[in-house]
Amino acid sequence: MKFHTKAIHAGHKHDKAAGAHATPIFQTSTFVFDSAEQGARRFEGTEEGYIYSRLGNPNMSELEEKMAALENGGAAISTGSGMAAISTVLLSQLRAGDHMIAGDALYGCTNSLMTHVLPRFNIETTFVNTSDLSSIEKAIKGNTKVIYVETPANPTMQVTDIKAVSEIARKHGAILVVDNTFMTPYLQKPLDLGADIVVHSATKYIGGHGDVVAGIIVGSKEVIMNMKFPYFKDFGGITSPFDAWLLVRGLKTLPARVDIHCKNAKIVVDYLVNHPAISDVYFPGLKDHPQHEIAKKQATDFGSMIAFELKGGIEAGKTLMNNVNMIALAVSLGCVDSLIQHPASMTHSPVAKEDRLRAGITDGLVRLSVGIENVEDIIADLDQALSQI
Ligand SMILES: Cc1ncc(COP(=O)(O)O)c(C=O)c1O
Repeated sequence: MKFHTKAIHAGHKHDKAAGAHATPIFQTSTFVFDSAEQGARRFEGTEEGYIYSRLGNPNMSELEEKMAALENGGAAISTGSGMAAISTVLLSQLRAGDHMIAGDALYGCTNSLMTHVLPRFNIETTFVNTSDLSSIEKAIKGNTKVIYVETPANPTMQVTDIKAVSEIARKHGAILVVDNTFMTPYLQKPLDLGADIVVHSATKYIGGHGDVVAGIIVGSKEVIMNMKFPYFKDFGGITSPFDAWLLVRGLKTLPARVDIHCKNAKIVVDYLVNHPAISDVYFPGLKDHPQHEIAKKQATDFGSMIAFELKGGIEAGKTLMNNVNMIALAVSLGCVDSLIQHPASMTHSPVAKEDRLRAGITDGLVRLSVGIENVEDIIADLDQALSQI
């Protein structure tokens, strides 16, 4: 099956009980066994079937099978948030005394997990500019077990060469974990490029409608099964059946939505680069973006996340954000509607100021998630707000 078809059909099983065309919501915490012997076989793993929704549920299975198919992975785990996915991956792949390397521009709570939480378990992170392969090589230590990247990075839009970094990881006996939230599997498939594990904030483009918080982990069947039992089973950060159902529904239109997101973003970027109030626009689709060629090579389009700076700095940025009408002043991204926010004081406020500035997340940076409204309306709203500066 090709991508659009998989987005609709992968993981779907016709409901045998009532013949429902759409998957029913299995809003149940536990599952009934036919006999004590059957219950024992399910626990032993000698018979397939559901036991208890923290260990699996038909709605979660459909979502996991669909995401594994879309990312070209062997299996997946759906989680209660993107952070539940990221913390599950890191706490299952690393142990006390291990070292990891991560991009210096990352979603704020991912940075905070590595800076504040993992050191309590004696897991150390070195943050480097992962677009620069030599800084990754230099940061490698004998105990480096994980390299972790977001590409494009939130919010700088810096791009990392997944294939090249996967080769470095393999050479040094580490694994590569890629946060594919900004691109989605429709545009970029990190596992095909050599990554070992993909994580998503499914809250974003996967759900697509801004009505669910969830996450996904995808990898080979072996990696995912070793992560699920015992780690994920014991951490317990699952997706609820209803949220899994919403995500399955969202995924069916992922390619259709992302096509419009990408088309709109390019038109908005053209508008922004020509606006006299704007000094810099960061978008991998721009020919002068430092990693434009890598972005072109490893993804089929450039997504709809844009970061930019105004000539008037943060004060001008605040005027813009306080005067948009249709565009929502809100964190999150990848929704059908356009969202604008200020990383330094919002999504990236957990990051220490000096680390934030070193990574290029300046006080004046504004992040825009371009939605799928008519692009003329997005531009008209930006235009009226920018004219108030
Ligand atoms: C790139 C990226 N990864 C992970 C996360 C965390 O996801 P969640 O908010 O679903 O926990 C976010 C949230 O904004 C994000 O932007």
